[in-house]
Amino acid sequence: MASRGEFSSRTAFILAASGSAIGLGNIWGFPIKVASNGGGAFVFTYIILTFLLAYPILMAELVIGRHAKADTVKSMAKISSDKTRWLGMSTGYWGMLTASLILSFYAIIAGWMVAHALGSLLSVAGVSESWFVSDSLARSAVFCVIFFVLTISVVANGVSSGIEKWSTRLMPILILIIVLLIIYIATLPGAAEGWKVYLQPDFSKVTDPSLVLDALSQAFFSLSLGVGTMMVYGSYISKSENLPRLGAAVAAMDIGIAVLAGMLVIPAIYVAQHNGVVIYDDAGNLIESTGLIFNVLPALFNTMGAAGGIVSILFFVLMSIAALTSSISMLEVPVAYATDSHDVPRAKAAWLVGIAILVFSILLVLNMSWLFGKVVNFATEFSEPLIGILFCFFVGWVWRRDQLLGELQEGNPQMQETLFWKIWPNYVRFVCPAIVLALLIRSSGLLNF
Ligand code: PFF
Repeated sequence: MASRGEFSSRTAFILAASGSAIGLGNIWGFPIKVASNGGGAFVFTYIILTFLLAYPILMAELVIGRHAKADTVKSMAKISSDKTRWLGMSTGYWGMLTASLILSFYAIIAGWMVAHALGSLLSVAGVSESWFVSDSLARSAVFCVIFFVLTISVVANGVSSGIEKWSTRLMPILILIIVLLIIYIATLPGAAEGWKVYLQPDFSKVTDPSLVLDALSQAFFSLSLGVGTMMVYGSYISKSENLPRLGAAVAAMDIGIAVLAGMLVIPAIYVAQHNGVVIYDDAGNLIESTGLIFNVLPALFNTMGAAGGIVSILFFVLMSIAALTSSISMLEVPVAYATDSHDVPRAKAAWLVGIAILVFSILLVLNMSWLFGKVVNFATEFSEPLIGILFCFFVGWVWRRDQLLGELQEGNPQMQETLFWKIWPNYVRFVCPAIVLALLIRSSGLLNF
């Protein structure tokens, strides 16, 4: 078997896993869900659900991965009993398929971000940018290919000289850009209104089922759960690390950046409104999400005079970086399978698998109107939570408890005395699957409660 990679340090893992977690979901999805779900009430529910549901499942993935030190299919087989091996392996395959599906639509949106970044650059240079910033089939296809080439090139280089190197370089830049933009936007007229909406929770909305569901799927997607990404990244963590602590650091980074992104995007929306940009449709609802990012924000940047060009470049470069550190983690799931289970050399695996998913992305571009939404919903609202439940089932019911404890003790010999060990195993056994299942049934409309 080809030798497997490993993250060179704790910080490298935290940055790479946070890089996976922090993406369009945080900087685009989160603020928009906040804006359309009662401001601070959504932020509150999201943070609670991340700690109560997403963190325990993140831990399940990390522990399985680090124990097996293999791709998702082999890892799930390793913790299964004889009778459940088929189900374990199927879960691994299903995760791989879901990661590939998510990459197929994610790369299209990421391509638009890159196109807008280049477009803003051209416009600052005085060259016409209209092809780059207006919607067309050709533009979507060209930038999707470009984004795939970037993603594949990083993954082809392996864990430490590809994924780790680029995640550790890009993540600090990303944080710096967000902070600079927050400070600048906060100084503009209209921003205060946005801050008010963001920070004052309307608690009457916290019990609204659609808000809770939105917050749950956001928490799953945002922590990259239910596809095996975190399992594969977990398989590259050294045995000497204390897993619960690493997982908590990643969850905290993910929440932190989502909250920061809200401080940028929500005030920006209100500054745009102050400047005369339309942000609500005729029915009084916030205009849909693609419109907000690709029309409202550019319209805002246009009203800012000379600074607008620079702000626009920074914003779309930020989006592109966030998307890239996430997309590499999605591609890593099937690539790890090809290298671990079939001994395909890494670079070859990255290009072969990457091109196959790219072909599907192009199909999506060509059938955007009817296929895109279906793929997004299937992957994020159905597959991710169900696979999350299966991971809980395996950790809570199938995997031998002594082996599970043994794995956690690797990085912390006192594990058995910790609060984490006293609560978490039974929590993933009963509570997590029950709540996720209940919410899933509720959202499918099968039961009304
Ligand atoms: N967590 C990423 C985001 O918030 O944009 C999306 C994501 C990355 C989902 C990796 C799934 C995945 F495997």
